[in-house]
Amino acid sequence: MNILVTGGAGFIGSNYVRYLLDETDDKVVNLDLLTYAGNLENLAGLEDHPRYRFVKGDIRDAGLVSALLAETRTEAIVHFAAESHVDRSLDAPGAFLDTNTRGTQVLLQCALQHQLGCFVMVSTDEVYGSLPAGEPGFTEETPLAPNSPYAASKAAADLMCRAYRRTFGLDVRITRCTNNYGPYQFPEKLIPLMIANALEDKPLPVYGDGLHVRDWLHVSDHCRAVDLVLRQGVAGEIYNIGGGNEWPNLAIVKRLLAVLGKPESLIRFVPDRPGHDRRYAIVAAKIRRELGWQPRQDFAAGLAHTVQWYCENRSWWETIRSGAYRDEYARLYGPGGRYADG
Ligand code: NAD
Ligand code: DAU
Repeated sequence: MNILVTGGAGFIGSNYVRYLLDETDDKVVNLDLLTYAGNLENLAGLEDHPRYRFVKGDIRDAGLVSALLAETRTEAIVHFAAESHVDRSLDAPGAFLDTNTRGTQVLLQCALQHQLGCFVMVSTDEVYGSLPAGEPGFTEETPLAPNSPYAASKAAADLMCRAYRRTFGLDVRITRCTNNYGPYQFPEKLIPLMIANALEDKPLPVYGDGLHVRDWLHVSDHCRAVDLVLRQGVAGEIYNIGGGNEWPNLAIVKRLLAVLGKPESLIRFVPDRPGHDRRYAIVAAKIRRELGWQPRQDFAAGLAHTVQWYCENRSWWETIRSGAYRDEYARLYGPGGRYADG
């Protein structure tokens, strides 16, 4: 199969590109704008892979996407590209609407125009909003009630996928996953930020009382689930993906400090995130039942491996945190650079 992956230079997208090249015979085109979150280091070693091609470009550029679909004879799109960080959406909501909602609509329109066989929309559990303590997790039938601009932009994209299915008959499948962790996660997100700060003996900022709950899933389990939906899922269906692995943030932070052998005195309680969702949890019964998926990565071992990865790949996140990687992109993609436009 010829697959177009969007956002394949980000955290989950790069793990998925590696999954495809390792586990399948598919040809993979990775379309990524290389925003602050996109990093070709995440794909180091794949540059000359015979079944892989990187294209720097914007999912909102209909001309580019359309030409790419035709030229590469794309059969399926797996759509990860997004502005993904809730805190940034509080400062710049417009960018989220533009990339996440409008960008998805552009891709859907191009998919329709080229009569693509399958479009997998990587949505999120945040579209369901906040889950009260003690209630069972979100199912695919739970009404959408997004609370942050990020979540609202993803919910709008998710509903646009539904509209393209219902109105135009496009083969769209939607996944809604819980919080991911693992290698190559940008160090603005909870787990990598806390690991990096702890390694540098910097304060670990915990929002509010630290008792907000997230359901953590290793990125490899998410990638396998997305791939199952691509190959065995049903057109028009929604699949929740989650590990049944709920933890309050403070417990995660303390656990990371214990693994790293660092003192809890590094923890700093800071003002809460505005609109902060108290709890997310997913019922993943449908994908388990219908596609035979289940998480493989044990949480304690997955977290320990993740800590080890950030310890062993210190230069990866130090470069990001120093901003040096942006200079490198300007050198490669700016005027005269190896990947300069035109
Ligand atoms: P990320 O921020 O690490 O990566 C996003 C990627 O998209 C980057 O490589 C970036 O350069 C690219 N991108 C952004 N705007 C683009 C544009 N206009 N055109 C082309 N590329 C563009 O994000 P992530 O954490 O890997 O999340 C990937 C997807 O999975 C997102 O859609 C997110 O909503 C969803 N998701 C994430 C999680 C999680 O825990 N991280 C959980 C569920 C769903
Ligand atoms: O649930 C899926 C979502 O998970 C994805 O759709 C998003 O793209 C992804 O960013 C993630 O959203 P969260 O807001 O849950 O992730 P984040 O890592 O930003 O925060 C996790 C929890 O930790 C949340 O309750 C806020 C808290 N937090 C986060 C940071 C960065 C802190 O207490 N301190 C911090 O410094």
